[in-house]
Amino acid sequence: MTRKTWVSATAGILAWFAAGCAVAAPQFSFSKTTVLAGARLFAEHCSACHSVGSLRYNRLAALGMSKADIEKEIMLPNGANYLKGMEPAMDVADATKWFGIPPPNLSHMVRARGQKWIYAYLTSFYWDPARPSGWNNHVFPNAAMPDILAPWGGTYASDGKLLQPGLESPAVYHQQVAEIVDFLRYASDPSIFERHTIGPYVLGALVLLTLFAYLLKREYWKDVYNRGNGKQARGPKQG
Ligand code: HEC
Repeated sequence: MTRKTWVSATAGILAWFAAGCAVAAPQFSFSKTTVLAGARLFAEHCSACHSVGSLRYNRLAALGMSKADIEKEIMLPNGANYLKGMEPAMDVADATKWFGIPPPNLSHMVRARGQKWIYAYLTSFYWDPARPSGWNNHVFPNAAMPDILAPWGGTYASDGKLLQPGLESPAVYHQQVAEIVDFLRYASDPSIFERHTIGPYVLGALVLLTLFAYLLKREYWKDVYNRGNGKQARGPKQG
């Protein structure tokens, strides 16, 4: 192979990889804004069935949402308490009767499954009349959960054919699913923003400490080197 062929082959592989990433990778931009947008979507679409029991509602105030907005937009289930974990609207016993399995608490789902899995799960439902709910899922076969986002994202057949378009454009829909996953990521790791703010200072302090430790080491070893050079060591006189 000539050098030119190598260069164009490498460029081709890189372009193919970039194109693949651009199409396939969900946009997890992950900021306080996307987490709050995801929390609103979650309250609207998911908290009918799912709890996020380890995340208190008031946590969202730390991300910049007012208490009034949290009460109006997020605390939809009856009896929700601002200082307690996020509750499902549906009675767990009823949900278990209807779905055959209680909808799981999603507090730690991102730790258990990862963001990409949840994103893939939410975007992989297809119409399957053989299932009791009418829905099936490519990444979680025979899941008991119906495709509750179908009116927005569209209804697909198992071979990926669009049966009924959704209300949102595919780009907007995928962005919204990524925001829901961002919210679940925050729920499973609510100290993440504080950590990321404090992190650079901690690393800076460690670098500074390393510098001082190095200067101290140089100061100590100066005497040893000087003695080796036949010069008079500083400090107490030796034998
Ligand atoms: C109508 C009730 C209902 C709604 C609404 C609902 N789910 Fe579910 N979900 C379920 C049930 C039931 C299961 C259990 C599925 C199983 O194990 O077969 C489940 C399972 C899951 C799982 C876990 C899969 C696993 O690993 O066990 C995730 C993640 C999930 N739902 C996310 C969501 C999100 C995000 C929303 C909102 C967009 C949502 N669900 C809305 C009923 C619901």
